[in-house]
Amino acid sequence: MSGAKNAAVAIIPAALLVDGVCRIENIPKINDVTLMLEIVQEMGGQVRLLDDTTLEIDARHAQNARVPYDLVRRIRASCYYIGSLLSRFGAAQVPPPGGCDFGVRPIDQHIKGFEALGASVEVRGGFVYARSPGRLTGSVVYLDVVSVGATVNIMLAAALAEGQTVIENAAKEPHIVDLANFLNAMGANIKGAGTDVIKIRGVPRLAGGSYTIIPDQIEAGTYMTAVASAGGEALIRNVIPKHLDGISAKLMEMGVEVEEYDDAVLVRRRGRLRRANVKTQPYPGFPTDMQPQIAACLVRAEGTSVITEGVWDNRYRYVDELARMGAQIQVDGKVAVVEGVPHLTGAPVRACDLRAGAALVVAALAAQGVTVIDGVHHIERGYEAMVRKLQGLGAEIRCRELPDADAMSFAQ
Ligand code: EPU
Repeated sequence: MSGAKNAAVAIIPAALLVDGVCRIENIPKINDVTLMLEIVQEMGGQVRLLDDTTLEIDARHAQNARVPYDLVRRIRASCYYIGSLLSRFGAAQVPPPGGCDFGVRPIDQHIKGFEALGASVEVRGGFVYARSPGRLTGSVVYLDVVSVGATVNIMLAAALAEGQTVIENAAKEPHIVDLANFLNAMGANIKGAGTDVIKIRGVPRLAGGSYTIIPDQIEAGTYMTAVASAGGEALIRNVIPKHLDGISAKLMEMGVEVEEYDDAVLVRRRGRLRRANVKTQPYPGFPTDMQPQIAACLVRAEGTSVITEGVWDNRYRYVDELARMGAQIQVDGKVAVVEGVPHLTGAPVRACDLRAGAALVVAALAAQGVTVIDGVHHIERGYEAMVRKLQGLGAEIRCRELPDADAMSFAQ
């Protein structure tokens, strides 16, 4: 498995806080990472690719510039530049972020955090303007909802602030811990990441250093569902099995065998899948970013399954596409009822977002006949070499048209 997307897209803007060179290893080669690096370069930061998975960022001479709308609208994590620019320069001008469309994706909790640290924030003319008269000052922020993005942004803003910031009701995802570990490796003082109270004692300077990004929990989970869907067996290497507990437990309930090793999981599916109910929740609950992929397995399970989406208002846009392949799913608000069918049939379908695209691949692997998936650029945002990895497992899959061949090479 590759490095974690959602850790990488938080760590890249964090490199803007560092008064030195950051060497980042296990960086995934995906389009979201390319975009985040382009934004650093727009600011005057230097990005040097050392090998396939290692790069150096030197943002010592970066300038505070407007983050271009064209880059930002394509990726949600671009909003992390608000926290990092505010922290570094005392001001940020960033358009509201883009990313997958799951209904409303507010940033009120991010803004509340910046304001608690002494910044003034205004949204006008298509930009978020954040400004602080001097250095930000530590404060207590109680998040009204558990938000990955707000937790990241407040950590970024607080890392160089005066005094201590406490984030209560913080997100606990592995990528939150990874960002804290990265910042600490650069000289920050952050404690409690991975629990719901994170304490950040601001430091005057971060000095640079080396850091290795954790493996991607959701990429690993996606290949686990690929095995569950298609049957057979795969050893999924370079994972942290603990991060996969919620996914493994659910797959085992569905009759899939999962064996854990130190840094690998062996996944095997022989008989027919069993039904299961799934409720998505913040970590350590079952991840919302695995909801479409597990649904793509449950459509062929024996019996009726109920999926409840506990994070996003509208994350079932892929259902109509699975229905083209013969799946029977009824959606009512945040609940989807899945009637398992014995088989799916290949069809032309369209990926409407990243994990929806992954779910269509998972379903297609088990469908009878050929499935043609359009909108592959969504998948390229977050999965490194998915086609090659699946071919390695014996899948008959190929990319007919690469949406943006250049986008896979890091911009120099
Ligand atoms: N929310 C608010 N106000 C805010 C922020 C969030 O009400 O200020 C709500 C959201 O509307 C949502 C919930 O809080 O209902 C959780 O949102 P969160 O902020 O945690 O999501 P995010 O930071 O925008 C990240 C991941 C998503 C993943 C979610 C939940 C990144 C770049 N994105 O988004 O990942 O679904 O956390 O775990 O880390 C993906 O990788 O496919 C993906 C979409």
